[in-house]
Amino acid sequence: MSPTPKPGILEITPYVGGRGDVPGLNRVFKLSSNESALGPSPRAIAAFNESAGGIDVYPEGGATLLRETIAQTYGLDPSRIVCGNGSDEILHLLAAVYLQPGDEVLFSEHAFLVYRIVALASSAVPIAVPEPNLRVDVDRMLAAVTKKTRIVYLANPNNPTGSYLPHDEVRRLHAGLSRDTLLVIDAAYAEYVRRNDYETGIEMVATFPNVVMTRTFSKIYALAGLRVGWGYCPAAVADALNRVRGPFNVSVPAQRTAVAALKDRAHVEASFAHNEKWRDWLTQNIRKTGLRVDDSVANFVLIHFPAGGPHSVAAADAFLTARGIILRPVAAYGLPDCLRLTVGPEEANRLAVSALSEFMART
Ligand SMILES: Cc1ncc(COP(=O)(O)O)c(C=O)c1O
Repeated sequence: MSPTPKPGILEITPYVGGRGDVPGLNRVFKLSSNESALGPSPRAIAAFNESAGGIDVYPEGGATLLRETIAQTYGLDPSRIVCGNGSDEILHLLAAVYLQPGDEVLFSEHAFLVYRIVALASSAVPIAVPEPNLRVDVDRMLAAVTKKTRIVYLANPNNPTGSYLPHDEVRRLHAGLSRDTLLVIDAAYAEYVRRNDYETGIEMVATFPNVVMTRTFSKIYALAGLRVGWGYCPAAVADALNRVRGPFNVSVPAQRTAVAALKDRAHVEASFAHNEKWRDWLTQNIRKTGLRVDDSVANFVLIHFPAGGPHSVAAADAFLTARGIILRPVAAYGLPDCLRLTVGPEEANRLAVSALSEFMART
């Protein structure tokens, strides 16, 4: 007899991140992982370098300064913030704390892949709800709710579709859940969205005992390699997560660098403005090549390729990769004919569009 993983574990397909290099090419443009186009704030880099002097000592386990700085930045109660090793860790912790074997976890068909993984890791049953038109359908989500539903994960905006659910729809979804079902609003891309009908989830967390919002430093703050995220939780949820999380789950460099990144609002603003400008430019110019591109509110766009033939997704991926432009195939998200393109620096965006134009002009 050998040790046996819990039910569900061996059903997990390991997460595969975006490629970052191409054999034989010295210079590549990695537009495959929704990282920031402008990189981190110089103040964050300086704080990271200075933190080298502190890595012989355990981090402050409560990440107090970081939580207080997040709270000041976003107008929150610091005692309800739980920091993690990326927001992925918060998504995992929520599943570990609230799921029993056989419980059901709902998410939409093309949602972030980690939701399925965390459900299976807790021996729960992942349920992907159809998403016509690549938008979360609240009626279908509510129709899939059963007495066993314990967590609903909602990425808002969603990766990889780039679409978002307006706040009245999020509230309608919440209104259809029982009070012992947790609604987790994953707002990893929230800083990129400025729409009148969009809310991050802060208000709902403040109002309801069964709503959690997760956020990350990996996107607009450009600290993906450092691994820092956080959840804003009802007090009882924060208490439960704090019992389970690793006592030193956010490293010294991560805490200090994230604090500095939060304080550089001018850099965040510049990253937002760059993203607005180039996401729209990419969308319009890729559409001019004849390809379908969905409207996106995040820092990436989803490009649809014709199934088969000379302009298939596989041909496009090979064509772009050979030129050092790395996009993300998203077949694992149920989108086998799409590539996801992260908004990059100007040079990368221009190269991506000219390569796609050349590719589409081929017969
Ligand atoms: C919707 C969504 N949630 C969460 C994450 C994970 O972020 P983190 O780097 O904080 O773990 C990502 C990263 O791609 C994402 O797209």
